[in-house]
Amino acid sequence: MSFGSSLQSARALIVGASQGIGLGFVRQLVADGRFDQVYGTYRRPETAGGLMALAADHPHLTPLPMDVTAEDSMVQAVATLQATDPRLHLVVYCVGLLHDGDFQPEKSVRQLTSDQLLRSFQVNAVGAALLTKHLLPLLKHDQPSVFGAISAKVGSIGDNHLGGWYGYRASKAALNMLIKTASLEYARKSPNTIFALLHPGTTDTRLSQPFQRGVSPDKLFSVSRTVAQLMTVIDGLEPADSGDFLSWDGQQLPW
Ligand SMILES: NC(=O)c1ccc[n+]([C@@H]2O[C@H](COP(=O)([O-])OP(=O)(O)OC[C@H]3O[C@@H](n4cnc5c(N)ncnc54)[C@H](OP(=O)(O)O)[C@@H]3O)[C@@H](O)[C@H]2O)c1
Repeated sequence: MSFGSSLQSARALIVGASQGIGLGFVRQLVADGRFDQVYGTYRRPETAGGLMALAADHPHLTPLPMDVTAEDSMVQAVATLQATDPRLHLVVYCVGLLHDGDFQPEKSVRQLTSDQLLRSFQVNAVGAALLTKHLLPLLKHDQPSVFGAISAKVGSIGDNHLGGWYGYRASKAALNMLIKTASLEYARKSPNTIFALLHPGTTDTRLSQPFQRGVSPDKLFSVSRTVAQLMTVIDGLEPADSGDFLSWDGQQLPW
């Protein structure tokens, strides 16, 4: 049975829901009658206006503060979740970092710095891995659950023909390995949980904005289109798919 066909009175947690694809997920899930409770995390109120406005209109949406580089903020958010109901059915890790002011994707080995590489790993990979630790008790129950992590095709080692973007590529490859490895442990400890690494396709968000010039309009997805496509993939997941690296159209991607 696919994950989507089992969903009712479900609870979802979207991590990194202040903007972009994460906010798009929250927008779609609050309108999806299969979900009773939706939680969306934000790092700073300054960029979370859209999430707060949505929550004002939807009492079953709860914004939760969480900076994925501060593990204690994860612990606090998980405690809040557990206090209401110790079950989650869907988690989507939508946090990601490609550029931020002076922090720009490296075009050459000459631009590599320890600080930038470590920050890429911390935000893009380590945060998701720590959540697999803290969320195990909430994902482990007798109903199906999904932990989806938004990865990126540029994190595929086999598909790397262009080079560049060292920190982003390597941190997404690390995310893939961490989540694949967690999927194997969960298969023993929480066999109803399905993990998926999801490539969203180029999507019109802050993250892709500086790099959209070379992308043809039919290959640049709106956030709502991306979320609808990824929800179709998530709904179709079956236990045998756990740990797969999947594109927005459901195709397997090479590691
Ligand atoms: N857009 C694309 O074309 C594309 C393509 C392939 C993969 N992806 C992946 O898709 C995911 C979503 O990206 P997006 O395009 O929606 O980008 P985005 O609009 O820039 O959103 C990124 C999100 O990550 C959050 N975030 C960053 N650092 C954080 C931290 N330390 N703690 C908690 N949250 C943090 C941001 O919060 P703030 O508002 O606080 O900054 C924001 O909510 C990312 O994993 C990205 O790598 C995107």
